[in-house]
Amino acid sequence: MSDLTIEVHLGPDDRRVALERDVREGLTRRPKSLPPVWFYDERGSRLFDEITRLPEYYPTRAEREILVRHAAEIVRTAGVSTLVELGSGTSEKTRLLLDAMAEADLLGSFVPFDVSEEVLTAAAVAIGSAYGCRVHAVVGDFHRHLAAIPDADDGRLVAFLGSTIGNLDPAQRRRFLFDLDAAMTRDDRLLLGTDLVKDVDRLVAAYDDPSGVTAAFNRNVLAVLNAELRGDLRPDAFDHVAFWDDDNAWIEMRLRARQAHSARLAALDLDVDFAQGEELHTEISSKFRPEQVSAELHDAGFVVEGTWTDPDGDFLLTLARPYC
Ligand code: SAH
Ligand code: AVI
Repeated sequence: MSDLTIEVHLGPDDRRVALERDVREGLTRRPKSLPPVWFYDERGSRLFDEITRLPEYYPTRAEREILVRHAAEIVRTAGVSTLVELGSGTSEKTRLLLDAMAEADLLGSFVPFDVSEEVLTAAAVAIGSAYGCRVHAVVGDFHRHLAAIPDADDGRLVAFLGSTIGNLDPAQRRRFLFDLDAAMTRDDRLLLGTDLVKDVDRLVAAYDDPSGVTAAFNRNVLAVLNAELRGDLRPDAFDHVAFWDDDNAWIEMRLRARQAHSARLAALDLDVDFAQGEELHTEISSKFRPEQVSAELHDAGFVVEGTWTDPDGDFLLTLARPYC
């Protein structure tokens, strides 16, 4: 029997307040936009999981490959017995870190942290029973609740995998890294996964797969709004758009209205008009150069202790410590 705690910092009421604010602000500005955090209801999390298995979506495989080769060295260098994972989702790849910690006789606690309570709970239960370690899951928003990460006497390895940091714009990223540095102690370590700049065709294919899974993931945000805010947005009235923005070095996803139409979100008493061809901005996915990752970490108060890439050089894992 494992020791499992689920701590909720983002309950249904907080979530609802945040959703209403984001939707009211995002759908009344030009261009219209929604933050990517709202993709991840149960269906959105399942669709993301499907994305990770698409032949075109290389980041998950590349990061997994780095972990297969280097998890033992990473956990040995970090030398702590608590693994925290931000934006943990299903924590699939994380098992490679947990295996390496168990192998090194270091595994004490696992702290998955995610906004999506259903997926988080399922992962926490599965990992608790597979590893027999203490699991302290935190339902929270990593922009607001980093202080909720429980303390650990001998330090924590805070993993932020999958290049989820790339879904933040540069200002959000900077603030997030500063906040994270402030929430960490000198014994803690950060393990950051970042997707690297590469051939544009491969990048675009990863976000516009022919099987349409990424399009379904993108449109799902409209279904989330409908379900939670009594809306009548029509996901099938929008085209999925994914393109490479070379100036900003990011893939951008949008939803483009096929025709002029209106929708209503009854819970907000809000009518939203879309012009033909109007685009709703839904996600950026920044791609990095290794020296940029080190520079951003350094600016936020971290010292890099190690970096690892996969053999194709597609993805980067960086281990860093706060320099306080
Ligand atoms: N780390 C996993 C999952 C990445 S998908 C991997 O590498 O495959 C992104 C995850 O981050 C989702 O589980 C989503 O629910 C979570 N997430 C997105 N925005 C978040 C936020 N603001 N706070 C906490 N979790 C967030
Ligand atoms: C979670 N995040 C890092 C994914 C990415 O690649 O930006 C989300 C995603 N969006 C479309 N496909 C995958």
